Amino acid sequence: MILCAQALGWTTNRTPIVSDIDLRIETGEVFCLVGPNGSGKSTLLLLLAGLRRATSGSVRLGDQDLGTFTRREIARRIAIVVQQLETSDRLTVRETVELGRTPWLGPISPFGDNDERIVEEALAKTDIAHLADRRWQTLSGGERQRAHIARALAQQAEILILDEPTNHLDIHHQLSILELVRTLPVTVIMALHDLNQAMGCDRIGVMHQGRLEAVGTPSEVLAEDRIADVFKVAVRPVVDPSKGDSFLRFDLPGRSQAGNRP
Ligand SMILES: Nc1ncnc2c1ncn2[C@@H]1O[C@H](COP(=O)(O)OP(=O)(O)OP(=O)(O)O)[C@@H](O)[C@H]1O
Ligand SMILES: [Mg+2]
Repeated sequence: MILCAQALGWTTNRTPIVSDIDLRIETGEVFCLVGPNGSGKSTLLLLLAGLRRATSGSVRLGDQDLGTFTRREIARRIAIVVQQLETSDRLTVRETVELGRTPWLGPISPFGDNDERIVEEALAKTDIAHLADRRWQTLSGGERQRAHIARALAQQAEILILDEPTNHLDIHHQLSILELVRTLPVTVIMALHDLNQAMGCDRIGVMHQGRLEAVGTPSEVLAEDRIADVFKVAVRPVVDPSKGDSFLRFDLPGRSQAGNRP
């Protein structure tokens, strides 16, 4: 167990946004949060990353309460790509990615060749090496998203928290980022909206109205009736004859599943 939430909650203006979260994240797993808009995924990710302080319960990183770590200590162990991305417009892509090295730098360990190598590697893995000297404000949405993921990779933390990492990405880059995070030797916790992509993760947590409604392997958790209930859709597994596995098809409730629209 690397990260553990116990009775975790966050309330604002007397409104509970996230409640009663009990969750153990195992070392090395790829854990995915799914759930409708406003169900509390981003809030839970911020709590797990120590960027938002719990109003009830606790988060443990290893065997220690997250609240006892300094920001710098947390940043060496947890890298996060948040949903609302902001970066100074004046920075270049390379400078943005270099920010990922900040928790490792200090008076006796200035930015050096090894940091440079790590930054170049992160630029290459996210396919933005050709954009390294471009200014931030000139980037497209997907290029910005990849630069933020590169910054998180450069941080070389053991836990990578990604809030909708495929947001803005074209299908090739969606698949390559998901493949990349699956092959990294780190623990990954991410929010995804695409339930078919979520099926590629080790475990899934379903958020609904601020609570973790279910946690388990994709086949345990993505039962059709639960998806139908939580997401208010009709769902149908379809077998891919070329691979023998199945994917999910969705429709609004009450619509014909045959796909013929009026
Ligand atoms: N600082 C805040 N003050 C008031 N309400 C908030 C705050 N942060 C989040 N909320 C509310 O809490 C709920 C959960 O928000 P959150 O961003 O965690 O949802 P989400 O599951 O990530 O949604 P999405 O899929 O749209 O990203 C939403 O209704 C949101 O409006
Ligand atoms: Mg969110």
